[in-house]
Amino acid sequence: MILQMNPKGLIVLLKSKFLDQCVAMKELRRKLRRLRKSLSQPVRHKKGKKLLYQCQKAGVFRSAKHIAIFTPNDGEVETKNIIKFLSRQGHSVYFPILVGEKLKFAKVGQHFQKNRFGIDEPLFTPLVGAHEMNLILMPLVGFDKHKNRMGMGGGFYDKTLAFKAQQNKFNKPKLFALAFNCQEVDQLDAKPWDVPVDGIITPTRFIR
Ligand SMILES: Nc1ncnc2c1ncn2[C@@H]1O[C@H](COP(=O)(O)OP(=O)(O)OP(=O)(O)O)[C@@H](O)[C@H]1O
Ligand SMILES: [Mg+2]
Repeated sequence: MILQMNPKGLIVLLKSKFLDQCVAMKELRRKLRRLRKSLSQPVRHKKGKKLLYQCQKAGVFRSAKHIAIFTPNDGEVETKNIIKFLSRQGHSVYFPILVGEKLKFAKVGQHFQKNRFGIDEPLFTPLVGAHEMNLILMPLVGFDKHKNRMGMGGGFYDKTLAFKAQQNKFNKPKLFALAFNCQEVDQLDAKPWDVPVDGIITPTRFIR
């Protein structure tokens, strides 16, 4: 057994040898992806609204002109309420575009095309780098109370944002991850390449 439950009902990854750790991480990712995918459409809809409320309450959009967000894929949180709100408030809204192993960002317009993972990317709007964003809202697969974040395993956000970790003079872009509460685990080990986020926002919590 490599995954267990603690008394609070959070998944605990048991410590073991390196190879087992890789197997455990894979198993944990699979379990958490299955968990977030299992939520019904009405539940997602309700939680999407609450997520917007949490972001507003925490003031994460304040003085952020250029904001990157994502469209949900693989059971990720609903973001349409946030996107609609940001557009109405006059923020410029961007989606990530996969270029090789890194992300660029393009302003959301009228046209989209699917990338190699089947995710919609804006078409006909210029590509800009992550350093041009004031705020990046990103998805995650798992998190813990110390703001450690586990993504889908591609390392795309980590590679794109490595400049932030290397030189802490960059306090832009601010990074917040959006998640369901059910994606919390007892503890995740941060890898040397993981870029720390400024906070994690769920429909009911703001962890910073
Ligand atoms: N800055 C980097 N330079 C080179 N390789 C990197 C870098 N960051 C991450 N990687 C590689 O990417 C792989 C996946 O990393 P990791 O498991 O942290 O992905 P993730 O955080 O789940 O994905 P994402 O960053 O897309 O959310 C690792 O094997 C790691 O070696
Ligand atoms: Mg990572």
